[in-house]
Amino acid sequence: MSAAPAVTVRVPAKVNAQLAVGGLRPDGFHDLANVFLAVGLYDEVTAAPADELTLTVSGPDAAQVPLDRGNLAARAAEALAARHGVEPDVRLHIAKDIPVAGGMAGGSADAAGALLACDALWGTGASRAELLGICAELGSDVPFSLVGGAALGRGRGERLTPLDVGGTFHWVFAVADGGLSTPAVYRECDRLREVSGGGATTADVPDPEPSAALLDALAAGDTDALAAALTAGGSSNDLQAAAVSLRPSLADTLAAGTGAGALAAVVSGSGPTCAFLARDAASADALATALTASGTCRSARPATAPAAGATILPAERGVTAH
Ligand code: C5P
Repeated sequence: MSAAPAVTVRVPAKVNAQLAVGGLRPDGFHDLANVFLAVGLYDEVTAAPADELTLTVSGPDAAQVPLDRGNLAARAAEALAARHGVEPDVRLHIAKDIPVAGGMAGGSADAAGALLACDALWGTGASRAELLGICAELGSDVPFSLVGGAALGRGRGERLTPLDVGGTFHWVFAVADGGLSTPAVYRECDRLREVSGGGATTADVPDPEPSAALLDALAAGDTDALAAALTAGGSSNDLQAAAVSLRPSLADTLAAGTGAGALAAVVSGSGPTCAFLARDAASADALATALTASGTCRSARPATAPAAGATILPAERGVTAH
């Protein structure tokens, strides 16, 4: 058999323009109204022919990525292979640029990237619907990593409806030292709700709903309106208080961004990455410089949204797996 050429997929990070969290469900998940925006920070996942499944990771935070079969990219390859009755023989390489355990769906991105890359490498020819189904089994954020753009996620975040976005938004992402565990942040959200007397289960907490003002702002491409919607009632992210409770220094990061001229400051998903909205590219660059200099984060990076979902790169652009 002649070896198929390696396939490289570029896949974006995400920020939650809104994360409305309902009560704790009996299955341990929370119903969400999750307004996803794909942002232009990318991992690249390469799938190359091999005799067995192997996984390597490069990039500044590579050491923090698990390389065992618990890695979501490896599980994606195995899930696709199992469905199509083929062996999951592939050399996967992740060139990692998305913050690890940062609330930007980096692990989900790698799973979506691996799935698309293996489908192309093995010629399994899975339909979009099948790929989305596998994504949903792998994790709540994985379907969005595949489709990108902007979408409303219902259920635990996996049931997607595409959203119109009328322009480009300029963000800055302040990356923290070390990650936060997503389950731990959800647990802290439940705990804070119980302490405040709100109760934590679906019986106590109102159904999460998307903000009409936020969806209008996205559709209009209106930065000022988006800034207002992001900070209405404190934060559009119901996990923000929990992330700050577990990592109090995030309050300093958020304040540093606001002090340096950010139009809005929110924790990204379950954190600890903080997301800041800027008026334009020049303001985003200046904000990133000020945030980095503030000493309240490890680094700060500008990126625009929305960005395309998982995309197979032309062969000559692919990185070499090794
Ligand atoms: O789906 P995913 O594997 O990303 O979820 C990781 C964890 O985050 C879950 O085990 C659960 O603790 C929490 N979670 C949740 N509700 C969601 C999504 C995730 O409680 N909608």
